[in-house]
Amino acid sequence: MDKISINIIDESGKKHILNIDVHPDMNLMEVLRSYDFMEGACGGMCLCATCHCYIVSDDKNILIKNEEEDDMLDQLFSLKENSRLACQIPLSKELDNLTIQIASAD
Ligand code: FES
Repeated sequence: MDKISINIIDESGKKHILNIDVHPDMNLMEVLRSYDFMEGACGGMCLCATCHCYIVSDDKNILIKNEEEDDMLDQLFSLKENSRLACQIPLSKELDNLTIQIASAD
């Protein structure tokens, strides 16, 4: 199984590095939730936005969203150009060295 590193900036600005296995049937929220970085209240159904994060890495591809995610993000005061819902990001090798910032709750 492939291993990747994800750089996390938590809500207080502290940096963390996670070295994780790429489980193809898991998404980024599930990993971050298991380390208590976020709540993921709806379980990845794109209904709660408690998995809101900002993509700090300069990677335009990871900012591509579907309409459902866009609609959910549009409801947030903390929306930025680089906002994503972590539950809509499948784990893959391409995420290696990704840097994200956890968004504070609206
Ligand atoms: S976990 Fe609810 S929208 Fe991502």
